[in-house]
Amino acid sequence: MTFSGFDWSQQQVIVTGGSGFLGSHLVHYLRQQGTGEVIIPRRSQYDLRQEHQVLRLYDDFPNTTMVIHLAATVGGIGFNREYPGTLFYDNIMMGTLLLEYARQRAIPKFVSVGTICEYPKFTPVPFKEADLWLGYPEETNAPYGLAKKMMIVQGQAYRQQYGYNAIHVLPTNLYGPGDNFNPKSAHVIPDMIRKMTQALERGDSEMVLFGDGTPTREFLYVKDAAEGIGLAAAYYNESDPVNLGCGEEISIRDLAEMVADRVGFRGTIRWDTSKPNGQPRRQVDAALAERKFGFRARTSFADGLSELVNWYREHRHDIEASVVFS
Ligand SMILES: NC(=O)c1ccc[n+]([C@@H]2O[C@H](COP(=O)([O-])OP(=O)(O)OC[C@H]3O[C@@H](n4cnc5c(N)ncnc54)[C@H](OP(=O)(O)O)[C@@H]3O)[C@@H](O)[C@H]2O)c1
Repeated sequence: MTFSGFDWSQQQVIVTGGSGFLGSHLVHYLRQQGTGEVIIPRRSQYDLRQEHQVLRLYDDFPNTTMVIHLAATVGGIGFNREYPGTLFYDNIMMGTLLLEYARQRAIPKFVSVGTICEYPKFTPVPFKEADLWLGYPEETNAPYGLAKKMMIVQGQAYRQQYGYNAIHVLPTNLYGPGDNFNPKSAHVIPDMIRKMTQALERGDSEMVLFGDGTPTREFLYVKDAAEGIGLAAAYYNESDPVNLGCGEEISIRDLAEMVADRVGFRGTIRWDTSKPNGQPRRQVDAALAERKFGFRARTSFADGLSELVNWYREHRHDIEASVVFS
């Protein structure tokens, strides 16, 4: 089956979170496809946790044909432990309100972007979409993951009751240019790159990382994720959630060696086992996305990681100017 010919020029698309890390790559992808109009509501203009602001957004753009909902409160393991209430409230409110009013306004399609954190803590590897409901998520991810997971339930219920076209995709952990390097909320790869770069510059003979290094993760290059979401938005119209991944599983210990190699840090890496590991293993089965809408990740992890380290070197000054480093 071929997946081509979708006429993006006829689409007016609201991309919530369109100025964020993933969102800016998705907006770039949509523009490359010739999308008629791409609307990026900023948080300062429309706080999407608030009903009246969601209504105002839809009032302001009455010809919207599609909503791609990426806006979210997100963070790494430290942020998740410190702000579970915020993560739950912000994400469930945004998803619930945006989808409900998109349906009421008869916006033809709603694409919700979920997260690998929706999966149960002990999902058999590779994670298959059919296993999403086997158990409770890893505790530090649960408020975030479950708030986002409710968009699956809401979308399926709306399809059943109203015939509404809502779909849900679940990208695995993302990385790439534009990544979040803020020490308070960065995910594991940018956090390691920053810490190792600083350790190298200080001339440290060792550095400390969280956990014992045994957990595994799968990382999807952000530009590939944007393409996957775009393909799903164009060609997928079913209620079953779909993974977006690349099929490469890597341990945190191996990841640390790959980052050290690219950064040039030659010291010892010490593992602080008093800190939690997070979910033991993560790798998704990415077959459904290929079958249903022709998505296959193009970028190898080795290449993508090198690109991100180079990007960090080039943009470090701007990155450090834009976040408060503690
Ligand atoms: N990063 C990952 O590894 C990863 C992996 C899987 C899934 N995802 C999903 O991908 C999506 C984007 O993640 P990201 O990493 O790109 O996040 P990000 O860079 O932090 O971007 C989040 C975006 O959400 C917007 N936002 C937050 N709160 C808002 C509010 N109350 N009202 C309106 N807009 C609000 C922000 O808008 P402003 O810029 O205007 O503040 C920002 O553009 C999320 O849904 C996340 O769950 C991310």
